[in-house]
Amino acid sequence: MNSAPQIALVSGTFSSPSKTSALGQAVASAVQRTYGGAVHTTEVAGLLREFGISLTTGSTTATLQRHISAVEQADIVIAVSPVFKGSYSGLFKHFFDLLDPYALTGRPVILGATGGSERHSLVVDYELRPLFNYFNAHVSPVGLFATDADFVDYEIITPALVQRIDRAVNSLAPLLQRDDEPIAAAER
Ligand SMILES: Cc1cc2nc3c(=O)[nH]c(=O)nc-3n(C[C@H](O)[C@H](O)[C@H](O)COP(=O)(O)O)c2cc1C
Repeated sequence: MNSAPQIALVSGTFSSPSKTSALGQAVASAVQRTYGGAVHTTEVAGLLREFGISLTTGSTTATLQRHISAVEQADIVIAVSPVFKGSYSGLFKHFFDLLDPYALTGRPVILGATGGSERHSLVVDYELRPLFNYFNAHVSPVGLFATDADFVDYEIITPALVQRIDRAVNSLAPLLQRDDEPIAAAER
């Protein structure tokens, strides 16, 4: 990949303002500082009407399609969700259910979650990561997890989390060198 990357940020929160979205935006800013590029943001809570229309009519609205395409065509995907009942939010999953199963093949992805306590920090590895393994994406080994203690006024204040974000972003460098071809239909 020689040109500036297209970056897609998907946040699975219902809140605004949101710690989850603040985490995602901090990652997106770090990706931009390191690799350049533009960020397209999808807040799934803003797509409730679109989800309803697509479920009841079977056709995707132009707005929803724009968000789906932005993620499918991104060079780097950042996916963050609040922890709800030990997993990602239902709407977060619903959005990714709408993507082409092969669209994220080989795609560099950074995963993050926010929760009420550190007891659920492995949600990133045991819930989010398998979803992106399904997509055959290249997920950074550095998963991100934050709790209330990492934020003041929705700004990250803990140096350890800032450093971990930088490690996650730097871990994408080798993945951005390669150009995985989409899986041919016959191989699916
Ligand atoms: C319905 C619901 C379920 C939750 N379940 C968990 C959970 O299982 N584990 C956890 O650590 N936090 C849980 N939380 C807390 C949220 O994950 C946490 O407050 C998160 O940071 C909220 O992010 P936001 O600022 O984007 O809304 C839950 C919150 C809600 C509303």
